[in-house]
Amino acid sequence: MVTIRAAHPSDAAGIRAVYAPFVAGSPSTFEEELPTVEDFHARILASPRRPWLVAEAEGEIAGYAYASAHHSRASYRWSVDTSVYLAAVHHRRGLGRRLYDELIAEVRTLGYLNLYACITLPNAASVALHTAVGFRPVGVFPRAGYKLGAWHDVGWFGLALIDEHPANPAEPRPWLPEGVPAAP
Ligand SMILES: CC(C)(COP(=O)(O)OP(=O)(O)OC[C@H]1O[C@@H](n2cnc3c(N)ncnc32)[C@H](O)[C@@H]1OP(=O)(O)O)[C@@H](O)C(=O)NCCC(=O)NCCS
Repeated sequence: MVTIRAAHPSDAAGIRAVYAPFVAGSPSTFEEELPTVEDFHARILASPRRPWLVAEAEGEIAGYAYASAHHSRASYRWSVDTSVYLAAVHHRRGLGRRLYDELIAEVRTLGYLNLYACITLPNAASVALHTAVGFRPVGVFPRAGYKLGAWHDVGWFGLALIDEHPANPAEPRPWLPEGVPAAP
């Protein structure tokens, strides 16, 4: 059985293990050095807190999804970037979908209005997942990154969580998952 739950800082090592092969061998992330366990602690607990979810299978971290700031400038604060990684053995079993459905529900509850995903192209699985949950293409940055000996296009995808953006939007709230410590 696979459980989707809020990530705890103690999941950092498992999250790092899922991410490691993509840093080393795939342009799906443009990170080239594997972040440390402490880096992942800090990312999970970054302020303001935003959702980090894990898929746990038989006590192991099978994958994770999270929301992060789209941009540091203040007026972007209703917009988040979302991302998802699963260990290869767990691909194509609906886990990406389950993680994203829950992530989107959490982000919506907190008052965020726009979600963006940055996908190195081609990535049929990621494009299919994002399209399946409602993201639509926004644009392509041609040859935006160089990794593993090649230039890569990056597709940005967007999902608005509201039909009409309000004239006076309420401030987004920090994520306060039960059982996960507050930032130090
Ligand atoms: C992208 C990723 C998270 C997808 O997760 P997943 O659990 O394999 O996907 P799911 O089984 O939930 O499938 C979701 C949808 O995508 C489709 N899909 C999944 N993999 C696919 C593939 N390789 N080719 C085409 N469609 C695919 C499924 O059919 C499903 O569509 P539907 O809901 O219309 O039936 C997973 O492939 C992954 O971790 N990839 C490597 C890391 C990565 O690229 N992350 C994204 C960075 S932008």
